[in-house]
Amino acid sequence: MIKSLFAVKPLKQLMEEVSDDSHGLKRSLTAFSLIALGIGAIIGAGLFVRTAAAAANNAGPSVTLGFIVAGIGCAFAGLCYAEFASMIPVAGSAYTYSYATMGELVAWIIGWDLVLEYALGAATVSIAWSEYLNKLLGYFNARIPYEWSHSPFEVSTTAIHGIMNIPALFIVFLLSVLLIRGARESALVNSIIVVTKVAIVILFIVFGWSFINPANHTPFIPAPTTFVDAQGVSHHFGGIMGILGAAGVVFFAFIGFDAVSTAAQETKNPKKALPIGILGSLVICTVLYILFSFVLTGVASLNDFRTVGKEASVTFAIQTYMTGFGWLGKLVTIAILAGFSSVILVMLYGQSRVFYSMSKDGLVPKIFSDLHKKFRTPYKSNLLFFGFVGMFSCFIPQDIVGDMTSIGTLFAFMLVSAGVWIMRVKNPELIRGFRTPLVPLVPILGILVCGAMIFGLGWANWMRLFIWMAIGFCIYFSYGITHSVLRKSKLK
Ligand code: ALA
Repeated sequence: MIKSLFAVKPLKQLMEEVSDDSHGLKRSLTAFSLIALGIGAIIGAGLFVRTAAAAANNAGPSVTLGFIVAGIGCAFAGLCYAEFASMIPVAGSAYTYSYATMGELVAWIIGWDLVLEYALGAATVSIAWSEYLNKLLGYFNARIPYEWSHSPFEVSTTAIHGIMNIPALFIVFLLSVLLIRGARESALVNSIIVVTKVAIVILFIVFGWSFINPANHTPFIPAPTTFVDAQGVSHHFGGIMGILGAAGVVFFAFIGFDAVSTAAQETKNPKKALPIGILGSLVICTVLYILFSFVLTGVASLNDFRTVGKEASVTFAIQTYMTGFGWLGKLVTIAILAGFSSVILVMLYGQSRVFYSMSKDGLVPKIFSDLHKKFRTPYKSNLLFFGFVGMFSCFIPQDIVGDMTSIGTLFAFMLVSAGVWIMRVKNPELIRGFRTPLVPLVPILGILVCGAMIFGLGWANWMRLFIWMAIGFCIYFSYGITHSVLRKSKLK
């Protein structure tokens, strides 16, 4: 029994199964295109929304240092991801790789955990989308009333209670319909979005720099204390714990770089291009993030981020403090709305793809792999996830879903780092297109830095991760284990 929990899926079978959609992928991507792919998937709500939340709840201006910690953790985990991806010569996600290397139980844990990354990640960005939509409407003297654009757990500064977040639900619905119809982001759209996102980040840094008020940066690392947010959750604020907590929150801003490793099979010379793609996109984003957060926390004050500037903080900072840059505020708002939509699309797509594979393996019901006759997309899965993601978008505050996304992804990164090390010991003979340098040091550092960020996220988030995993175990041991295709074939 114990042994069969770790049964691995034979590589040959894996190759046959994916032959439909990824066999014979053309090796056309270069290191440069990988960097663009990475940046396209990375920059989003983490930067434009979670930065202010981390400053308000955890670290004040030292959120900038939080970005450095998160960037370092991602670099270690990213190098491990790359080896994992290059070992299995098919396109896929951490779920697929772990099934073929570490066995069914670990694969289940990672697959279940990825729901936090993709589904809750999509919900987080949709809530951020709703904030910026209201800013856009504000330019036309309109707005969606507070109660219809916030969860029931939120209260405005004027004591209005939220009921449900309709714009967030709307964007998830719209993008789910597009996915059902088979939409995917084209390379051209991705390039346009990458250029726009990087451009607005740079414009904000350059023009915002002269509006930095040194008083907002003093003290840069606030003294350790406790801060209770609007939902009544207390956070370690200031000091080292504040920086670690902030790192856990803004880690969200790095999620998506693992997309680079999933393109391993379409890359020319992956040995060189993969590390350049992963580390290159990480370095560029980390530098931009550090500068951006430094300017943002210098232009607006900590008090703003806790009150009137809590939402759509970048547009707020421009409108309120950067006199003469109204045009930049409008540009940023529109670009952010477009950028967020593309991140949500990629996440919803990733979610349905992971559950498609899990369903084909019998670990979740068949409904998740039923294809639409005409569009050839897993439409039932898309609809179910619309319901699931939509529920979070509508009724749960962004802080909670955002931090659940971070903690879930950090946990997956720890498992992937450990997996690379285990596989080096267990299967040293397997051919690896790319080898993580300095094993076991790099995996260990990946585990430690990601673990430190999980620690910084605090007990409320540990509990949520624990409950989510406990639900996952119940499902696996009551459903997955008896329906697993691999197990059935082994029993024959
Ligand atoms: N990194 C992505 C974002 O910040 C998920 O929106």
